[in-house]
Amino acid sequence: MSEITIGLGNNDVKTRLDADSNFIGFWEKQAKNLSWFSSWEKTLDWNPPFAKWFVGGKINASYNALDIHQKDKSDKPAILWEGENGESKILTYKDMWVQVQKLANVLKSLGVQKGDRVTIYLPMIPELPISMLACARIGATHTVIFSGFSASAIKDRIDDSKSKVVITADGGYRRGSVISLKEIIDEAIKDSKSVKNVIVVERTKTKIKMSSKDLFWNALLDNASDICPPEKLDSTHPLFILYTSGTTGKPKGVLHGTGGYLTHLHSTFKWAFDIKDSDVYFCTADIGWVTGHSYVVYAPLLHGATQVMYEGAPDFPDASRMWNILHKYKVTIFYTTPTALRMFMRFGDDIPNSFDLSSLRLLGSVGEPINPEVWKWYFKIIGKEKCPIIDTWWQTETGGMLISALPGLETIPLKPGSGTRPIPGLQISVVDDDGKDVSANTKGYLVIKNPWPGMLLTLWGDDKKYRDVYWSKYKDCYYPGDYALKDSDGYLWLLGRADDVLKVAGHRIGTAELESCIVSHPDVAESAVCGIPDQLKGEVIIVFAVLKQNTTLDVKTLEKELITKIRNDIGAIATPKEIYFVTKLPKTRSGKIMRRLLKAISSNETIGDVSTLEDGAAVSEIQSTLEELKKSIKLRSEF
Ligand code: PRX
Repeated sequence: MSEITIGLGNNDVKTRLDADSNFIGFWEKQAKNLSWFSSWEKTLDWNPPFAKWFVGGKINASYNALDIHQKDKSDKPAILWEGENGESKILTYKDMWVQVQKLANVLKSLGVQKGDRVTIYLPMIPELPISMLACARIGATHTVIFSGFSASAIKDRIDDSKSKVVITADGGYRRGSVISLKEIIDEAIKDSKSVKNVIVVERTKTKIKMSSKDLFWNALLDNASDICPPEKLDSTHPLFILYTSGTTGKPKGVLHGTGGYLTHLHSTFKWAFDIKDSDVYFCTADIGWVTGHSYVVYAPLLHGATQVMYEGAPDFPDASRMWNILHKYKVTIFYTTPTALRMFMRFGDDIPNSFDLSSLRLLGSVGEPINPEVWKWYFKIIGKEKCPIIDTWWQTETGGMLISALPGLETIPLKPGSGTRPIPGLQISVVDDDGKDVSANTKGYLVIKNPWPGMLLTLWGDDKKYRDVYWSKYKDCYYPGDYALKDSDGYLWLLGRADDVLKVAGHRIGTAELESCIVSHPDVAESAVCGIPDQLKGEVIIVFAVLKQNTTLDVKTLEKELITKIRNDIGAIATPKEIYFVTKLPKTRSGKIMRRLLKAISSNETIGDVSTLEDGAAVSEIQSTLEELKKSIKLRSEF
């Protein structure tokens, strides 16, 4: 693959050297870029796999995001908000500061105390970051739920976190129609023992039912004081829980702390984006996912940056919406996903070419592997061959970027489709099943060999699962569940998930979670789910279901019912592309479903020799099952 050398002229060799010689001392130096109420006694307390960063230090995230800018940036726009329906709003650092303190006082008056959890279920409106920062101000732990999740998914998360207050909106706009968020919350909390109040933002002015628990945002804030001093919190104080899908049936609550997490974000934002006071930054991620938490809310605000926040769908009302926004706000840094780029690319070059995008100086990608063709299109058509592209690899659990080109730190040749190198202070390897480094250009498992400040504290309420999921495959190494390879120049190429987690349009969906939803339908006996490659979404979901013998429903009705069930239990993002009804599934002798075969068969790949299958599976049995599956798929396609 040809290299492209384009950078911003930075070449800070010393940072790399410092980090390599003593990563703990290095991160200690980075932490000093934040404002602390009191310094730490110990930089890192590493009791594998539990890391405590800056132990004894006192800090507050909302203070670092807002108060520190009041002296010289109070009138600077923090958020240039663009509503889906064409409305727009500017919130300065002062506006944010006032609103956050008012809401913090409201939360206190509702009995929310340090350590309590608050669930936030809001669309992409300024009240969302305001709510997160108000929680952070008083030491409440926020748990934001993506506004596309269903009532049942929200219920599980609220029950698990035992949230005291929920913040939501009457409705949210999506592609011109209104989604009744308040109704979804009413359903989710109808049996909740923990939720005492629901605060409702009036976004769409939809008619809603208000119960004695429910309070309107505006009425509460109008009467609240705008002075609320920040709590002086321990560096390890839990800032947020963010639920994410894994290999187990239920989503896991990833728990992040404060001082380490903010240090990681402050540093990576500076290194990756080379942020300047004059920049207009735009990250298209929804705040309901980790990219939105880290690189829409916390990192830009820590730096006093100005950013665009967009409420709606990227192609609404038409395919020019994104480029229109870049043009209108003279965006200088654009951070988006390969799925969005693939969609834009499909609409053709004429649309972006008809806008003045000359303000752009840096482009980023996140969430899934970016294919080289898309990288090149992004580079040529959007960046006009003058903007470096950073392909940033990280996870909900890592808190911030771990692999990326860092133009704010150094200029290195870029290779389309490679994440390049780890951030300073991080030791990353690609290993085989036994944990041995594989040779150059060989696919293996990505592992991280030392702690970093943004890493999760644990899984909410489940230290054992935290250890089992991430730290048990390889001794004293963090296992993220990704395939990767290192080429002969030492560049890392991320090659997708190695576990039973799917990535659909960049969203993480656990196969186990989906399967358990499907088998809870009374007519389904067994189910297996796999992902197959898709030109637009990266991957799409294929469901195989074995029906109970006494089923009387016809296949079409069942298919409809299953889709409705998936949408109700999980959310629209988990809607499968195809559902195949079969009589058996290919399994190993020990009963493990062979998803690899399902994946191959549904993507029309050759399966090859099955006699060497793992775990001594019954070969003839599998062959006959596969034959049957092929027939079902063929029948389905003729349907
Ligand atoms: O498989 C990797 C993929 O997304 C997973 C993490 O998903 P999530 O926790 O939802 O966070 C996404 C946003 C940070 C990873 O295990 N992934 C993320 N970024 C990349 C990626 N795969 C390839 N290249 C990337 N840049």
